[in-house]
Amino acid sequence: MEPRRTRPVAIDTAALLLGAIGHPDVKPGILEVGILLKTRFALDQYINLRPVKLYPNVETPLKDKGPEHIDFVVVRENTGGIYTGVGGVTQKGTPLEVATQVMTYSRPIVERCVKYAYEYTRKRNSKKKMLTLVHKCNVLTHCGDLWVRVHKEMGDAQYPDVKQDYNHVDACTMWFVKQPEYYDVIVTENLFGDIITDLAGILQGGMGVAAGGNINPEPGGVSMYEPMGGSAPKYTGKNVINPLATISAGGMMMDTLGEPVIAQVIDKAIHDALASGQIKSLSAGKMGMGTREVGDLIAKLVS
Ligand code: IPM
Ligand code: MG
Repeated sequence: MEPRRTRPVAIDTAALLLGAIGHPDVKPGILEVGILLKTRFALDQYINLRPVKLYPNVETPLKDKGPEHIDFVVVRENTGGIYTGVGGVTQKGTPLEVATQVMTYSRPIVERCVKYAYEYTRKRNSKKKMLTLVHKCNVLTHCGDLWVRVHKEMGDAQYPDVKQDYNHVDACTMWFVKQPEYYDVIVTENLFGDIITDLAGILQGGMGVAAGGNINPEPGGVSMYEPMGGSAPKYTGKNVINPLATISAGGMMMDTLGEPVIAQVIDKAIHDALASGQIKSLSAGKMGMGTREVGDLIAKLVS
């Protein structure tokens, strides 16, 4: 595979909302790589922002945890690391074949991500104001060390109001389950971010609500928002799918479009719709109402 390179392209749109994609006729991986990764790289969407928030009446697999415990944000680096495709295979098909897949990080790529995360933590409406770097610097001594130094240097110099914190990624998965209330904002490299946000997604009730943004925070940057789930083709046309994750992604998009109040109103509508108990479950077919009716309920609450 050719290494993936960021090749900024000009595109005449303010933002993108990506619906759930996938089709049974298309082999897994083709759409993901061809659309999702390609767009992230082409538009240099170097931040993957994944809020992890448990809304009221939403079931979490964690025992004795509620909305007051699960409310943090993961800032995942989105265009670097092992996802750049650096590496290859030699002597393929022989007993001695060798495959490499290299985690690469340059200082500027780490710095722009960590800077975004500090700014985000500073602005976030939380009491903790804590930025946890998640890595594996005890083993990944080159890349991990670069992230650790950037996190500390930048924090010391520019963000004295933000508390610095560090977790190894393996320990982080344990704390997600044991004490999710510990976290405020997490910043992490691409692959670790991919893995921990699936775990985080299930803590907040699964794919029915999990949304994320692929963000290019630069002036004129084009960002893309998406529900975390796939397209669930077996439910096509049945009016049973939960639209909340897509609506939530749309809400996040409003923030980027310079409409933070609208973003808040949409988030509150999702919160209130769930708090009202009218939506029985987040699972397809078990919501107690159809896709359209959930959409109508949110539309009523925002208007
Ligand atoms: C995600 C997905 C993608 C990723 C896949 C579909 C390429 O898992 O957005 O988390 O690995 O980034
Ligand atoms: Mg993933």
